[in-house]
Amino acid sequence: MDRRRVLIDTDPGVDDAVAILLAFASPDIELVAITAVAGNVGLDKTTLNARRLVDLVGRRVIVAAGCAEPLSERVSEESVVHGHDGLGDLEWPEPVTPLDPRHAAEVIYDAASEGPLTIVAIGPLTNLAVALERHPDLATMVEELVIMGGASFEGNVTPAAEFNIWVDPEAARSVFAAEWPITLMPLDLTHQAYLVDEDLDEMRSWGTVVGDRCAGMLEPYAAFHDEWYGNRDIIMHDAMCVYELVSPGAISLQGVRLAVEVTGEHARGATFIDRRRVHAESTQRVGVHVDNHQFRRFLLERLRSLGVSEQ
Ligand code: BDR
Ligand code: CA
Repeated sequence: MDRRRVLIDTDPGVDDAVAILLAFASPDIELVAITAVAGNVGLDKTTLNARRLVDLVGRRVIVAAGCAEPLSERVSEESVVHGHDGLGDLEWPEPVTPLDPRHAAEVIYDAASEGPLTIVAIGPLTNLAVALERHPDLATMVEELVIMGGASFEGNVTPAAEFNIWVDPEAARSVFAAEWPITLMPLDLTHQAYLVDEDLDEMRSWGTVVGDRCAGMLEPYAAFHDEWYGNRDIIMHDAMCVYELVSPGAISLQGVRLAVEVTGEHARGATFIDRRRVHAESTQRVGVHVDNHQFRRFLLERLRSLGVSEQ
């Protein structure tokens, strides 16, 4: 089987964790590195969480830290959507996965230099923007960049802006302007993909460390959804990027042109997804529709394969 070389740039994040575990559970993916960026929580915590997740599955994968701040305006508060630690505030053992001494931007460039590479970006785009600034040839070296971010209809931080883009709109602008083929999973798509309470029960019933951890992380995330949206649908934003890679065709895609608003009284961080037909053959595409029943079954089956018994 041809395995796709994938690097995940991330701010774990409970749904980031699910995306990373789906990648680990997918024989069609060779996960070459995880690079951490500040976002849902600070960089120290997102980096620690990335190492915890690698330990959880007992694999050896490079983990490196990147940018602690966005390119321009500092975003001071941490989000509590994912708990204070970013992974639902469970107890974790001290991680053994080492921290690579390179900056994430260098790990990204080195990985792209070593062979065909797909980048999955599921946090603010700061690390990628810095990598592009340091290595302008990077964009032409990457096979595909799959991003979770943006929204056409409505943001989740402001009416205009989705979190990952809102944190660092300048970074998004430079990433969208570069030559790499981009597949974007915006909120309009990701809100179609969610787990429900019975899926958490199913995870617990497996009697596996991964199943218990996932249910434990997702429980407070479900409570947040209940408070914020008025129902416990557990939206799997970031997993959409990995799902697109391991289940091609499951998400319908449309050619578009992407832009981001960096100024404006109300619209900073808004994405403009130009869906007009003239862009049908564009190298920039956006996820449009996903069948949630099919996605849930696929995700649960793959996560279940990550270990069969309690440690
Ligand atoms: C995005 O923001 C984060 O909270 C999630 O991990 C996801 O990447 C959704 O807007
Ligand atoms: Ca994320």
